[in-house]
Amino acid sequence: MVSKLRFRVDNCEPLMPWTRRNFLKTALGGGVSLAADGGLAAPTRRRRRRVRYGAAVSLADLQSDPRLGPAIANHCDLIVPVAELKWKALRPAPDVYDFEAADALFAFAAENELGVRGHTLVWYADMPSWTQTLDTPAAAERALVEHIERVVARYRGRARSWDVVNEAIPDVASSPRERRPSIWSSRLGGRHIELAFRTAAAVDPDAQLVLNEYDVEFVGASFAAKRAAFRNLIFELLDSGAPLHAVGLQCHLRGATPIDRDGLARFVGELHALGLKVLITELDVMDQELPASAAERDRIVAKQVSDLIGAVGAPGPPEALLTWGLTDRHSWISHIFPRQDGAPNRPLPLDADYRRKPFMDVIDQFTGAAA
Ligand code: XIL
Repeated sequence: MVSKLRFRVDNCEPLMPWTRRNFLKTALGGGVSLAADGGLAAPTRRRRRRVRYGAAVSLADLQSDPRLGPAIANHCDLIVPVAELKWKALRPAPDVYDFEAADALFAFAAENELGVRGHTLVWYADMPSWTQTLDTPAAAERALVEHIERVVARYRGRARSWDVVNEAIPDVASSPRERRPSIWSSRLGGRHIELAFRTAAAVDPDAQLVLNEYDVEFVGASFAAKRAAFRNLIFELLDSGAPLHAVGLQCHLRGATPIDRDGLARFVGELHALGLKVLITELDVMDQELPASAAERDRIVAKQVSDLIGAVGAPGPPEALLTWGLTDRHSWISHIFPRQDGAPNRPLPLDADYRRKPFMDVIDQFTGAAA
C-alpha cells in the first residue's frame, strides 16, 4: 500500500496527523491509509526553480522528526536516500533483499511529488561483511550483476538518476590511472566499473547513469591529482563506449580550503563539451575549523557555496543541485567532523530549528527559486 504522506507546502503543515506511529504504519506498509480525509487533492505549491534542488534524507530522521517531511516537501524537487539503497541496507545476507526502508522513502517521494536519485550501486564502503566471501571473479561478477539488475529494475521509472559508481578514485592518486581498492576491484581488477554501467543501462535504458566523486573541487596538489584521475576514468569509460551520462560532484566542501574556481570551471566545461551532464550531488560544508561565531561561520559557509556553484555553473547550469541533508539537525558532519569547542556544526542550508541561513539564500538565487 502506498503511504499518504503529502504536505501542504505553503505553510509547512502536514495535511494529516504526522505522527511517528502513523508514519511507520503507512510508510512501512502497515495497511493504514491516512487519505480518507479527502484533503489530499490540494495542489502542491512548491517553489519553482530553474535548476532542481534536492536533499538527502534518511527514513529514520523522517520518522523521528515531524518537521523534516514538510520542510523537504516545501524546499525540494527531489530526494536521495542517505543509506537505504546502499548494499549494507539492502543486502543483509547473500540471498536476501530488504527493500522495506527504501520503499518507504520512494512512497514518501511519490506522495509529495518528489523525484528520487538512487545512491549507490557500487561503492567501496558500507558493504555487508558477507561480500568478503565472494572469492572468485565469477562469484563477484554474478553478485554485482544480480544486485544491479534487481535494484535498478525495482525502481525503474522512479529513480531517474543513479549514482552507479561512487568514489572510484583514492584520496591520494599517485597516477591518473589509480583507482580506489574495493571488494570489486580486488576480484574483477577494475572492469567492474564499466560492467556496472552496462548492466544498469540494460535494465533501465532511460535512467541517467552517474559517476560520483568527491575532493575534486579545491585548490591544492592532492585535489588536482584526484581530479586528473577522475578525468582519466571518465575518458576511459567514454572511450570504451560505456553508458556514462553524467558526472556527480559530491561537493562536501572544506570550510577553510579555497575552491579551485578556474580549475573546476575548466573541468566542468570539458565535461559539458563531452556531452556529459553535471550534477552537484552531496553539497555541505565542513565547518569544524571555522570561527566559533555562528553568524561569521554562516557567512563563510555561504561564500564557499557561492564560489563552488559559481565555478560549476560558469560553463552552464548543472542538471540538479542536492545537499547532503537539509537542516543542521540531521547531518553526518556532526558525527564525523564535530567541532573541538563543542559548538554544534552548521553545514547545511537550514539551521537546527529550520531557520533559513545564508546558504539557503545562495541556493535559491542560483536555482532561480520563485516563490
Ligand atoms: C554517509 C552517510 O551520511 C552516513 O550517515 C553514513 O554513515 C556514511 O555515509 N559520500 C557519500 C555518502 O557518497 O554516501 C556518504 O554518506 C557521505 C560521503
